[in-house]
Amino acid sequence: MSDALAWNTYARTRPERRPVNAAGQPTWFNWTQYPDHGPGAELLGLPAGGTALDLGCGKGGNVAHLATLGVRATGVDISPAQLDAARVRWGGTPGLSLARAEAHDFLRGAGEKWDAIYSVYGVVWFTDPAVTLPLVRERLRPGGVLAFSQRPPTPGCYGCQASYIPRGDDEDPLVVKRWDHEPETWRKLLHESGYPDVSARVLPAPPGRRKVGTLIITARA
Ligand SMILES: C[S@@+](CC[C@H](N)C(=O)[O-])C[C@H]1O[C@@H](n2cnc3c(N)ncnc32)[C@H](O)[C@@H]1O
Repeated sequence: MSDALAWNTYARTRPERRPVNAAGQPTWFNWTQYPDHGPGAELLGLPAGGTALDLGCGKGGNVAHLATLGVRATGVDISPAQLDAARVRWGGTPGLSLARAEAHDFLRGAGEKWDAIYSVYGVVWFTDPAVTLPLVRERLRPGGVLAFSQRPPTPGCYGCQASYIPRGDDEDPLVVKRWDHEPETWRKLLHESGYPDVSARVLPAPPGRRKVGTLIITARA
């Protein structure tokens, strides 16, 4: 469970989601690393009363938002610290379930299928897609959607990369693996894993000094 330790450390460095967004709403869906930017829950195309699974839900803001829309929404995360924060803020939201598990273990043990499975800078980025994409495919209902967002690759740096989670000045950072690919490579990997209909793009950053966009992918089973 060294990844859980790393992600607990990460959890301590991350601020809580704001009480309301720029529109004054208490819950919202954010696919990008920028506030009030990019698409929302409509990307998942969920039917009324549909089901969704958030892989690497973190502090739970996105999955809680889906629950407020009437979706039966489940968030899974490997980090007890992330989930504790999610439970403090969103526990008791009708339609929301939160589970502590490693995502591959959770998917292998799941007895149900979902209309949408998604990852926002989450499990699809931090696990081997050769394992994750087919496992998710098995847990999607016919026509279900896998959607994920993450930072686009640094040009020339593809495949498994090291992500460093800082601790203190006198401690080495913790390291987790992540998988970086160009949209075209994701499209190929998804086709090979049983998703015939894929949209893959990099959404540009909002106007300002920061230039890195967001890789956003939706794939229909
Ligand atoms: C960068 S955070 C993003 C959290 C959240 N989706 C958000 O947008 O704020 C990545 C999350 O994925 C979780 N995670 C990473 N690998 C995981 C795995 N194999 N199984 C379950 N959760 C995992 C981490 O604990 C962490 O909460």
